[in-house]
Amino acid sequence: MKLLHVDASAKGERSNSRALGRFFIQQLQEQGLTLEIDYLDLAQEAPAAVTEAFAIATYTAPEARTAAMRETLAASDGLCQRLLDADACLFAMPMYNWSMPSTFKAYIDNITRTELTYHNTAQGIVGQLSRQKVLFLTSRGADLRPGTPLAWMDALTPSLRAAFAFIGVQQPQFVDAQPLQFADPEARSEALERARGELQQLARQWAA
Ligand SMILES: Cc1cc2nc3c(=O)[nH]c(=O)nc-3n(C[C@H](O)[C@H](O)[C@H](O)COP(=O)(O)O)c2cc1C
Repeated sequence: MKLLHVDASAKGERSNSRALGRFFIQQLQEQGLTLEIDYLDLAQEAPAAVTEAFAIATYTAPEARTAAMRETLAASDGLCQRLLDADACLFAMPMYNWSMPSTFKAYIDNITRTELTYHNTAQGIVGQLSRQKVLFLTSRGADLRPGTPLAWMDALTPSLRAAFAFIGVQQPQFVDAQPLQFADPEARSEALERARGELQQLARQWAA
């Protein structure tokens, strides 16, 4: 299985989302899956923010693009190709200010590309990522689980769902480790244990 593994925490060794991502990969391997991993660390390689040149080039038909436009889109083309080549994707990230890290937003801006990750057809938009299994692994300082007082502030889950549905991901899976940083040590370790349990279950599902 070709797995695209993307990390987005600004933290390195201290990061919970990175550690849980490594745990999930280990679980997949323990289930007997042979993984070909394509790893992207957005904290080290942040995709470029949208520029005017990008905004114009991306909506110019491929056959009408100038050499300069093609050059502007080259890095984004590469990111799209890595996504299209994958059989499965693991996107691990912390919640920052109720939504995603800005590096991950820049990633989405680079991979949402007409005639690459989605096609504009007479029948409407056809996302090209319907084949891939997708897991969003998020870590949160607070507890935003359904039914909790802060649940309504979760702007991360709906925005990930919408952005990836547009490019064809119809059934993304979510494992949200919460509450972590803003919880007492007992609640924090329970949250990590809960997340590891869900990841173990998911690894069995992916391997089946
Ligand atoms: C800049 C910043 C903003 C954050 N904003 C939120 C937030 O809005 N809601 C929340 O629950 N936690 C928030 N946190 C806490 C992180 O989501 C939490 O510590 C998470 O476990 C970090 O993941 P990591 O260990 O992989 O970096 C924030 C942390 C940072 C550094």
